[in-house]
Formats: sequence, C-alpha cells, structure tokens
Amino acid sequence: MLMDDKKASASTTTTPPPSSTPPPASTPASAVRIKNPLISRRRFLQGAVAASVVLAAASVGASGQILGPLIPSSSTSEEIIDWTTLDNRYKDVKGKVGEFQPINYSEFFYYPYDSSVSPYYKNVIARLPDGLVNPLHPSEEPLKHVVAFNVTCVHLRCLVNPGYDTASGEFRLQCPCHGSQYRLVDGVPVAGPAYDLGLNPLPEVQLSVDANGKISAVGTLIGEPGIGRTQ
Ligand code: FES
Repeated sequence: MLMDDKKASASTTTTPPPSSTPPPASTPASAVRIKNPLISRRRFLQGAVAASVVLAAASVGASGQILGPLIPSSSTSEEIIDWTTLDNRYKDVKGKVGEFQPINYSEFFYYPYDSSVSPYYKNVIARLPDGLVNPLHPSEEPLKHVVAFNVTCVHLRCLVNPGYDTASGEFRLQCPCHGSQYRLVDGVPVAGPAYDLGLNPLPEVQLSVDANGKISAVGTLIGEPGIGRTQ
C-alpha cells in the first residue's frame, strides 16, 4: 500500500461515534428578548396604574376636596362685628352730617374668601339710618337695622364706599370711579352709570346674630361680585 492510500484509510476510520446526549437546541433571538427585558410591558402597565393612584391621592387635600390645596374652600360663617359697636358708630356720625363725609357707620370685611384669593370678595356691613329696615330681616332685632353688601361696583368693578349724598340727604354706597351710587337699604343703583345702564343691585351678604350681639356673615353671597343680584 502506498503511503497516500494509508492516510486516506485512517481518515475514514477515525470519525467520532454519535453521542448519546443530543446537542442543545439553538435558542431563537426573539425568545431572548422576552426572557431578559429591561422592563416588561406588564411591569410598565402596573407602574403606570400605581403612579396614577398616587397622583390622585395627592390631589385630594386634607379637607377631602379634589385639588383642595390649590383652591381654598370658602367660609360658611365669619364673625364681623358686634351690634353695640356698629350702633355706636352710627350714633356718632348721625349728628355730624355736613361736618365731614360720614363713613364710619360701617365695617369692611372679606367673605366668603379672604383678600389673598381676590379683592372682589370685600364687603361692607352698615347700620341703616333710623326708619329703614333690612328687607331680608324685617322683624329680627338687631338685624333689621343692619345690611351687608359686596362692594364690587357692577359697572366696571371699582370698589364702592359707604358715604353720604348731600343732594338727596341719604346715606349711600358710592363708587369713586364714575360716580355710581347704590341705595343703602337694598343695594339698588340710584345714580351714575350703574343706574343709567339698568345694572343689577349689589350682591348681598346673609347675616346672623348670636345671643351676645355678635353679627356674622353666613351662607353664600346672594349674587356674584361684579355681576350683582340677578334675582
Ligand atoms: S366702576 Fe363704579 S361707576 Fe364705574
């Protein structure tokens, strides 16, 4: 046998026998992506749901109102002044009409929101001149002698002041901007552009009084600041 024939024979007889253990099956690339994701779709959805629950809980304030920390809740009652103080102020100015502009028969207050929310929640409580009676409290002492209005002029939203109209001889609420005047007993416009344009009466504040004569604002405003009473 030639040397080359011996090499060829050896190469055909040294083939390794088949193994009893099958070789591992190759793993598809797609299966690798599912088994080892950075974040699975299920995890992502679970996280999104959890985050929305946390955000919803955070938006509910201590008061239990949605967005409570952002929108302050309105007061439902606020003590303003005691009756004796208000009555004494009126008695003091009553005999001095003509000597000065009598405005000290009243007291300003903010309700149902304070001034940090809006200047348009400013109101005034006033002792009515003798002979006039608050239509909301026609027979209740001492509230029959007291009125309270929001002071936002319904013309262009300046703030009105309690004053005295020498031409008519009446205590009125007067606007410093364009001269609108409102009747003290019911807030109805009686002069100036608010009267000429037929605008609404001023919003009214509901009142209560306790056994010690403390007068408080209660409930909601009757009407809207800057709009007035529509009914
Ligand atoms: S804003 Fe009051 S009269 Fe014009």
